[in-house]
Amino acid sequence: MRRIIIDTDPGIDDAIALLLLCAADSVRIDGVTTVGGNVDLDLVTANTLTVLELAGRTDVPVYPGAGRSSTDGREPSADVHGVDGLGGLGRTAAAMRARDTPAVDFLTAHAAAHPGEVTLLPIGPLTNIAAAVEADPAFVENVASVVLMGGAEGAGNMTPSAEFNLWYDPRAADVVFSAGFADLIMVGLDATRQADLAPGVGELLRLLDTPVSRFIHAITRSYVDVAFAAHGRLACDLHDPLAAAFLLDPAVIATVPADVSITVDGEHEGRSVVTRTAGVPGATANARVATGADTARFYRVLLTTLFPESVD
Ligand code: BDR
Ligand code: CA
Repeated sequence: MRRIIIDTDPGIDDAIALLLLCAADSVRIDGVTTVGGNVDLDLVTANTLTVLELAGRTDVPVYPGAGRSSTDGREPSADVHGVDGLGGLGRTAAAMRARDTPAVDFLTAHAAAHPGEVTLLPIGPLTNIAAAVEADPAFVENVASVVLMGGAEGAGNMTPSAEFNLWYDPRAADVVFSAGFADLIMVGLDATRQADLAPGVGELLRLLDTPVSRFIHAITRSYVDVAFAAHGRLACDLHDPLAAAFLLDPAVIATVPADVSITVDGEHEGRSVVTRTAGVPGATANARVATGADTARFYRVLLTTLFPESVD
């Protein structure tokens, strides 16, 4: 079974990605590492523990990582995901505790213990993953695949140029994209904007009326409000769950090989500059970039994995 490590900053869509993978029987979650991004490190770690408890997965170890961007020390702001990172509902405190081992130590040691077996799923800023690349020269070779949510070939969401996860720590993003990972998949906004939680799915979650469906329905209410205020849309994008769903069914996205470089400063900082390489003589790719999502297929993976008894 595929071993995965989820690197995350919950975050509403991160929480749904965690719930999805916790419910899947085709992957083995070896650990979750946390990173400041959507909200600060203490909150994202507490949210991770709450979500794992809700999923009944207190067996999954959690390792706290970096609290600040390695680019310039910028800190989280809580404007999209609510003051607590989960829609401001008043999270239930978890009894489960995080481990003392720092995220970077776990990442490097675990990849070294299982060379060629571990898939990384970074769905927050890339601060921890870059630190692991820099800490252990063998890390890149030891990792089988990296499937990350971040970047965009087209328009950004944090600035016109940049997507939030890469914008938050562009230096770290540059380290990761330049590291030479054998299999690096960038699931960016071009695909995740096609994986939105439409009102009908929200209503289905309410009707399913399980602890997990009630939780997802509740935390996405404020996320939809933010999207409505920003774009006039009654739906929110499930960025991180789409990247997670790719681990369960690769056909949820289409990809092209590309050379991706990161703009590390200036007006366009955090931009992923995507140059498609297929059919271009002499061009080499460092990633596969998602160009779009099969929205219906994504919903099927999400709902049948989370609610196998109720949805077929
Ligand atoms: C990414 O930024 C965060 O707000 C989301 O959790 C997602 O990982 C989308 O740009
Ligand atoms: Ca995230």
